[in-house]
Amino acid sequence: MTEPEGVPILSLTHVSKTFFSGRRSRIDAVRDVTFHLYPHEIVCLVGESGSGKSTTAHLIMAMETSTSGTIRYQGQDVARLRGRSAHRQYRRAVQMIFQDPYASLNPVHTAGYTIGRPMEIHHSIASASQRNKAVLRLLRQVDLTPPAEFYYKLPYQLSGGQRQRVAIARALAVQPALIIADEPVSMLDVSLRAGILQLILQARDEAGVTFLYITHDLASARYIGDRILVMYRGIICEEGMADAVINGPQHPYTKALIEAVPNPEHLEDGGTVDDTVIPSHPSAPASPGCPYYALCPVSVAECQQNLPDWTELSGKHRVRCFHVADARHGVKT
Ligand SMILES: Nc1ncnc2c1ncn2[C@@H]1O[C@H](COP(=O)(O)OP(=O)(O)O)[C@@H](O)[C@H]1O
Ligand SMILES: [Mg+2]
Repeated sequence: MTEPEGVPILSLTHVSKTFFSGRRSRIDAVRDVTFHLYPHEIVCLVGESGSGKSTTAHLIMAMETSTSGTIRYQGQDVARLRGRSAHRQYRRAVQMIFQDPYASLNPVHTAGYTIGRPMEIHHSIASASQRNKAVLRLLRQVDLTPPAEFYYKLPYQLSGGQRQRVAIARALAVQPALIIADEPVSMLDVSLRAGILQLILQARDEAGVTFLYITHDLASARYIGDRILVMYRGIICEEGMADAVINGPQHPYTKALIEAVPNPEHLEDGGTVDDTVIPSHPSAPASPGCPYYALCPVSVAECQQNLPDWTELSGKHRVRCFHVADARHGVKT
């Protein structure tokens, strides 16, 4: 068993996305990605810049279409949603919080309008006065108090942290089952990050929301995540319970990442959320095999040719690496 038990809320199965720019340039932004999200968990997708995290988010949100593979939400193929009401239901159930709180809010809409509008669109609360009450409740929930004052604020009157709180309230307004949060704190001042992470934990605990939390920051992944998926140049190379991945990394890339973190105590105490940012690795030439093969200290010939299958370890932990697979089967490398 490599996953929490139960029925997944969202499943990606062998999902790939290739971008072509010009005739010769091909970018395999997402390669053969498979993972499952289970109700009420926070799963962190961690990786350096350019590893395909946002593309994965856009595929889930149906903002991009995958080149191959399947994305299922509660068993239903997202690419085969038919009709306005099916799309609308999906758009309501799966919300996204973006990285840039300055770009994600309409500059001419008040906080109250921004938060109330999704309820109106999705007819989740019919009467205007009920909606207003719900908006005030949400403002209080995300600590924008006094809510009656914040209701009328325009984005330019809010700080980055306050804007991200409005974006979270807007996502929560339609009682989503799943929120994809794409680096929601990376543009915020370090002192504001823990507060936003706390709101996410609270949304999981009190409203039962499942989160895919995307980050290039290992400390926040360790702090907030039940499980961690490590992404490197399009592939998920390792996944497992957060503690298992941080304390016992198996993939050579994950090991290099954790060794490169300047202050590993921050990962262990789990309470400090600052800039323990994943370093960017020099890029290696693209290959059909493991994207880390050229930099990997233990690569074998096969690494350049093929993507390895998953090797299952104990503790809901698995890794995609020929070296680990061979070592476990007693093959000398
Ligand atoms: N619309 C696009 N067209 C072409 N290339 C893209 C597009 N979106 C992303 N990419 C490329 O895909 C790769 C992964 O990007 P992205 O998913 O944004 O990574 P991350 O969010 O991990 O930083 C990068 O090489 C990026 O340049
Ligand atoms: Mg991104």
